[in-house]
Amino acid sequence: MSYKDQIDLQRLPRHVAVIMDGNGRWAKGKGKLRVFGHHNGVLSVRDVVEGAGILGIEYLTLYTFSAENWSRPTFEVNAIMELLISTINKEINKLMENNVRLNAIGDLEQLPAKCHRELKNAIDRTSGNTGLVLTLALSYSSRREIVNAAKALALKVRSGELKPEDIDENTFEDNLYTGGMPNPELLIRTSGEYRISNYLLWQIAYAELYFTTKLWPDFRREDLYEAILDYQKRERRFGMTSEQVN
Ligand code: FPP
Repeated sequence: MSYKDQIDLQRLPRHVAVIMDGNGRWAKGKGKLRVFGHHNGVLSVRDVVEGAGILGIEYLTLYTFSAENWSRPTFEVNAIMELLISTINKEINKLMENNVRLNAIGDLEQLPAKCHRELKNAIDRTSGNTGLVLTLALSYSSRREIVNAAKALALKVRSGELKPEDIDENTFEDNLYTGGMPNPELLIRTSGEYRISNYLLWQIAYAELYFTTKLWPDFRREDLYEAILDYQKRERRFGMTSEQVN
């Protein structure tokens, strides 16, 4: 039986977050430039997005480019930005066909103007879709996101819109880039690295973590399904005892 057939559709994670890692090593292992790995990583993105939509996952959030990634060689940064633009343009019709709503989080102003513009156009075009919400984390830093939320709250307090005593976890959460989205129940990281790398630090407080040694360009929807099956075998206790949960 395939992994997909074993999944209990009544107990799907609503939100799956992914750290797509290992493109560079994948390419290097084949004697190619790192950029070749990113190009092949797009094929994995396409397959996983389609697989998540078919299964009925509501939110898929992909760590596409971190704020720290700006320090990579200019050639590689430019290639990723070009790839982003060409992928959005190539995939937009498919996203419409599959009812996917595109979204982005991060310091988007930092993106090259063309990239920002094309991204915004694609987000606008898909804004009426009601299926999977595909969020790309771009120029993203979770610590910066948290600091920005604190600043936004401070401004609301200063303007009298909010009282300090009214700030709680919900108001804080609403001021993150992900405000309005459920928190991820499952976080997947590929490539055998066991780190969070400044990704969704607040949002993954109770997420189940799943690590695989597969490099991102080798990761396909069946691997996503395997991760979801593993997630369904775990007992999520949220600080309670096993007896209470059962
Ligand atoms: C991590 O591998 C991957 C990235 C920093 C870029 C991710 C980008 C893509 C998959 C392509 C663009 C995506 C979309 C949605 C259009 P790495 O380079 O850090 O690999 P390494 O750890 O082996 O060096």
